[in-house]
Amino acid sequence: MKKKDKTIICRCEDVSLEEVTSAIDEGYTSLEEVKRLLRCGMGPCQGRTCLMLIAQVLSRTTGKPITEMQFPTARPPVRPVPLVIFTASKNKK
Ligand code: FES
Repeated sequence: MKKKDKTIICRCEDVSLEEVTSAIDEGYTSLEEVKRLLRCGMGPCQGRTCLMLIAQVLSRTTGKPITEMQFPTARPPVRPVPLVIFTASKNKK
């Protein structure tokens, strides 16, 4: 029996390394596909922590260089921002 690897690779969405490698074994071989299947990269950090780690796993497993991988589109805000920043200018009168 194969030992399951419960190492967490995406802390925001609680995705383990084993889930990522299982997805790759099932045929999901792009960063976008793994992201859509497991939601890794969709947490509060927007993948700043996990996407490069997942890219490394994909690269190791598929043999595709990281430089040839397409990373998901980053959407603003790039970092979490308190809502008061957006309302501050509205309240200045
Ligand atoms: S660690 Fe994966 S989205 Fe934050």
